[in-house]
Amino acid sequence: MTVAITTGHGGTGTSAASLVPLTVEGVAKGYDVAGRFVPVIGNLSLTLKKGEIVSIVGPSGCGKTTLLNTLCGLIPADLGRIRWYGHEIVGQPQNVGYMLQKDLLFPWRTALSNVKLGLEIRGLAASEAHDRSRAMLDQLGLHGFSDHYPSTLSGGMRQRVALARTLVNDPEVLLLDEPFAALDFQNKLLIESDTAKLVRERGRSLLLITHDIEEAVSLADRVIVLSKRPTTVKATYDIDLDGERTDMIAARESRQFSAYVRQIWADLDVVLQ
Ligand SMILES: Nc1ncnc2c1ncn2[C@@H]1O[C@H](COP(=O)(O)OP(=O)(O)O)[C@@H](O)[C@H]1O
Ligand SMILES: [Mg+2]
Repeated sequence: MTVAITTGHGGTGTSAASLVPLTVEGVAKGYDVAGRFVPVIGNLSLTLKKGEIVSIVGPSGCGKTTLLNTLCGLIPADLGRIRWYGHEIVGQPQNVGYMLQKDLLFPWRTALSNVKLGLEIRGLAASEAHDRSRAMLDQLGLHGFSDHYPSTLSGGMRQRVALARTLVNDPEVLLLDEPFAALDFQNKLLIESDTAKLVRERGRSLLLITHDIEEAVSLADRVIVLSKRPTTVKATYDIDLDGERTDMIAARESRQFSAYVRQIWADLDVVLQ
């Protein structure tokens, strides 16, 4: 399976549009299932601006993973336009790091050598690749586990290694599909905060897919709620919370937090089946 991550987007345009990392216009996508066409993404438009964190929430099976895979060029859209820095591109966008929902680590590489793979491919000096990868593992709470093979790590630890592998390349744009789902609550808050810090302090952009409404609200500048399949944008919320936006506990304690959560919960129209 392909794993992320390339360098230098090489865009030469300087128009306003070329400075917006991601613009999605009228994208539709369906699958052929046993000879029948099943529409998954209806007619979907969104933008991700520089320095912005946007969360996408939607009902299970609505097409979130399909959308992310389409945006990072792994599967083609049927209709619509996807522009990276103002340009439609063929294949995978450059300088975009993504972490897929089923983000497999190479079982024959240790945690550290999984993380440094992208840096090695980019031709970084071995010692620098080693140091940066080790520092990223430390930052994500994996100090002492660098030499472990994936099979000897818990699900949450493997997910953190996969996240480290994406973050260590410091791409301008991150697309993450449920990256914190396997973490316990305390680790989730810490790693969400670390991710927010990395993105906000470096002016990066993040599109985060999550089924966790509180995570969506606490991290994001904007939350996009998707409808059921064929999915489209049902609602969008600009999130305005008091206090430090890289501290997930502070975000959850802010005055406006629960009103957003309640509203988005209502939008999702969750029914037990
Ligand atoms: N490769 C595929 N072929 C056929 N159907 C697929 C394929 N991938 C996903 N689907 C279907 O598309 C729908 C959306 O899936 P997915 O994008 O994984 O949703 P989500 O991530 O929101 O849970 C589901 O009904 C799923 O079964
Ligand atoms: Mg999914």
